Amino acid sequence: MDLKLKNRRALVLASSDGLGKAVAAELIAEGANVIISSRNIEKLEITATEIGVHSFIKCDLSDASSIEPLIVEAAEALGGLDILVTNAGGPPAGTFADLTDQQWYDAFQTLFMSVTQSIRAARPIMAEQQWGRIVMITSVAGKESVHNLTLSNSLRAGLHGLMNTLSKELGAEGITVNAVLPTYTETERLKQLKVDRAALTKQIPAGRLGQPEELAKLVTYLCSDMAGFISGQAVGFDGGSMQSV
Ligand SMILES: NC(=O)c1ccc[n+]([C@@H]2O[C@H](COP(=O)([O-])OP(=O)(O)OC[C@H]3O[C@@H](n4cnc5c(N)ncnc54)[C@H](OP(=O)(O)O)[C@@H]3O)[C@@H](O)[C@H]2O)c1
Repeated sequence: MDLKLKNRRALVLASSDGLGKAVAAELIAEGANVIISSRNIEKLEITATEIGVHSFIKCDLSDASSIEPLIVEAAEALGGLDILVTNAGGPPAGTFADLTDQQWYDAFQTLFMSVTQSIRAARPIMAEQQWGRIVMITSVAGKESVHNLTLSNSLRAGLHGLMNTLSKELGAEGITVNAVLPTYTETERLKQLKVDRAALTKQIPAGRLGQPEELAKLVTYLCSDMAGFISGQAVGFDGGSMQSV
């Protein structure tokens, strides 16, 4: 299937590693011009060389003032912007009782406001050309809460509300807005969480964890011309774990 992504201009947030990197690589494989972004310049350089990006821009999504400039710089470098994939580093684990106000505020900026701010800046560019694709990488936690991931459970559910709202408001501008909800997928983040892999695998009907490349193919399809009639969908990437209806 020709996804018609050749020369499409894409920015993937939090993409020097893990899921964001896999998405950037898959968009590139389909012919898109891709800018990656994250905090660590050395990691960006290595990934940029490895997957062959258009360029990279350093940006810390926890810094509210840096996000609009990121979108403006990316659109200038690419000569426009067709595709925005939002993503962020995962928030700290913890139960409700564990978390401080500061942790809530920090996670709200990094996980939620970075999405709001980046879409706010990208939308006029996409609306003018009457074509845009926005895909949020969120989590199954935003639909079915996961023990000890209070921040993720809460803020991701909010992102799905934002996604629903935007799909209705931006449809007439030729922009689709969808979310992809991964379950446990083999990345650095998973290693950091020090999870019991065997126990996790048992929870997944497919009997294995997800692979970043599989998620990337789903996101890439949602970014394509073919997916123009799909908007406002929270698509599980979960090996059959969640009930969809
Ligand atoms: N992997 C899973 O099993 C899974 C499941 C469900 C949901 N998720 C969610 O999906 C997202 C990505 O997860 P992952 O597994 O790909 O994580 P990962 O392997 O740790 O990669 C995270 C990426 O985000 C960047 N990043 C981290 N904090 C950032 C910040 N403040 N500003 C800009 N970039 C930042 C990192 O680069 P720098 O260090 O250079 O900034 C890195 O490129 C997370 O929000 C995670 O909670 C993951």
